[in-house]
Amino acid sequence: YDILVATNDDQEDILNFLRTFFYKDEPLNKNLGLISNETPRCKDLEKFSTKDIGNGLNLKAVHNGKLIGVCLNGILERGFLDKDDDFEITDRKFSKIVALLDKVDRDADVFAKFPASAKAVSVKIISVDGAYRGQGIAKELVNKTRDLAKEIGAEFMAVVCTSHFTALALKKLGFELHYTQNYADYKDENGQVVFNPEPPHAACTVYVQKI
Ligand code: ACO
Repeated sequence: YDILVATNDDQEDILNFLRTFFYKDEPLNKNLGLISNETPRCKDLEKFSTKDIGNGLNLKAVHNGKLIGVCLNGILERGFLDKDDDFEITDRKFSKIVALLDKVDRDADVFAKFPASAKAVSVKIISVDGAYRGQGIAKELVNKTRDLAKEIGAEFMAVVCTSHFTALALKKLGFELHYTQNYADYKDENGQVVFNPEPPHAACTVYVQKI
């Protein structure tokens, strides 16, 4: 397979890929049943996924002309926690995920760990075709992301992992575990646990690496 930089022309292919895989099998999407027969599309998540598709940092893995993996990446700048990202969310289930990611971003505060750094690259979405998993494609996608991140002068990488397997991949690539939010300890205002994904997905973790 080849790993290539995605462009705006790939938007529809990538969305179709995510509809087949990530929106159904990422541990939190799956646990909430984000996509179902009644709600076959989550417009908010589709917008979130593709809003920076042509930023030159997004990667696709292609085998015999077929998309088999994507890694959608974004730039983080110091101060990003204080910026309002005019992104409106109406989907009730997706808003639960966004609330968790928001809390994790704030608690993890990755720029506090790298006081001299102004710019980082984060992996927002990583997804591999179910038939191609466990062959190192995710690790290759992150390796290539790191190369691109260095090229644009980012000083570190930070990845929020909702999946245990992403965490394993990053650990293997030498990333450091910076923050852990156990799903069992993450509760709503009524004291109810919000996410109960299937094992081995027990926590949302943040992995970082100076590059
Ligand atoms: N069981 C046990 N271990 C596994 C499994 C599995 N089913 N799948 C992967 N692993 C391990 C691998 O052994 C490897 O660890 P190692 O290096 O210590 O051997 C590590 O996980 C990564 O393996 P890769 O082969 O590089 O990962 P893969 O190409 O299979 O992709 C991914 C991993 C993207 C998480 C895939 O499982 C997937 O698409 N899952 C559904 C979507 C999802 O959850 N995405 C991640 C959400 S977090 C985020 O997007 C930032």
